[in-house]
Amino acid sequence: HRHLLGIEGLSPLDIQALLDLADQKVEVSRQIEKRKSSLHGRTQINLFFEPSTRTQSSFEIAGKRLGADVMNMAVASSSVKKGETLIDTAATLNAMRPDIIVVRHHAAGAVHLLARKVDCAVVNAGDGAHEHPTQALLDALTIRRNKGRIEGLVVAICGDILHSRVARSNMILLAAMGAQVRLVAPTNLLPPGFARLGFPTFTNMRQGLEGADIVMMLRLQRERMNGSFVPSVKEYFRFYGLDQEKLSYAKPDALVMHPGPMNRGVEISSDVADGAQSLIREQVEMGVAVRMAVLEALASHLPNG
Ligand code: CP
Repeated sequence: HRHLLGIEGLSPLDIQALLDLADQKVEVSRQIEKRKSSLHGRTQINLFFEPSTRTQSSFEIAGKRLGADVMNMAVASSSVKKGETLIDTAATLNAMRPDIIVVRHHAAGAVHLLARKVDCAVVNAGDGAHEHPTQALLDALTIRRNKGRIEGLVVAICGDILHSRVARSNMILLAAMGAQVRLVAPTNLLPPGFARLGFPTFTNMRQGLEGADIVMMLRLQRERMNGSFVPSVKEYFRFYGLDQEKLSYAKPDALVMHPGPMNRGVEISSDVADGAQSLIREQVEMGVAVRMAVLEALASHLPNG
């Protein structure tokens, strides 16, 4: 593959190969003496049109741990603010001959469009409510390292599925790797088409979490709701917020995940987020390893790679 635009299009073997490479990168990332400069001389541009803490910083750290020259494009102070389009911005950056561009954009499909306009490798760091492939890969790596497998696990993805690129990428990846994925959400935060995809859906947390090995919580994405449905935080937490009581409906050894950023007291309580069953901090560490693996895999297909 020349680009990583989504989990859609990757085979189970592609996913497994990336997870195996990422597993090696965990140790490389932890130990300076194990680092090799597989991206030495390569130029990586991070182009984020939407805010990010985890994804942007971990792509920067991942690139630097592999020896790449990493440039973070400051979109807020760029000529995008003067009306330059996505395509013109891409063509301008492309003329500087980068090797890899990592893109986050608020419009679904924008990253695919950009990939057609540049000569380098493109990584989707989140496009609208469409896909966030490296998030799904880091979630899968975290699950595999803690449960020893993905196949056969019951994974409950809970909350604002409608607006979530994380949910979409995870659904595709986890189903491809043989997990039993369920969706738990209020009806108006569940895309109507998703029930037809064959994933069991629940509107009730007690039923949805019963027998779950992994409880994956999602942020309520109020910035994508256009005022059409903004539930009261108190009510939302009462019915869908993960607290110790709701977590007790899942298996006793169930593990809790959240891609971040978290809204404590909205979709998850602090004691669960910081509790013994939480993998949330580990997900962040796995984010660096997965991004190292993705950058290295793409660089190996570049000219002179
Ligand atoms: N999970 C995730 O994408 O976080 P950021 O928006 O902080 O990058």
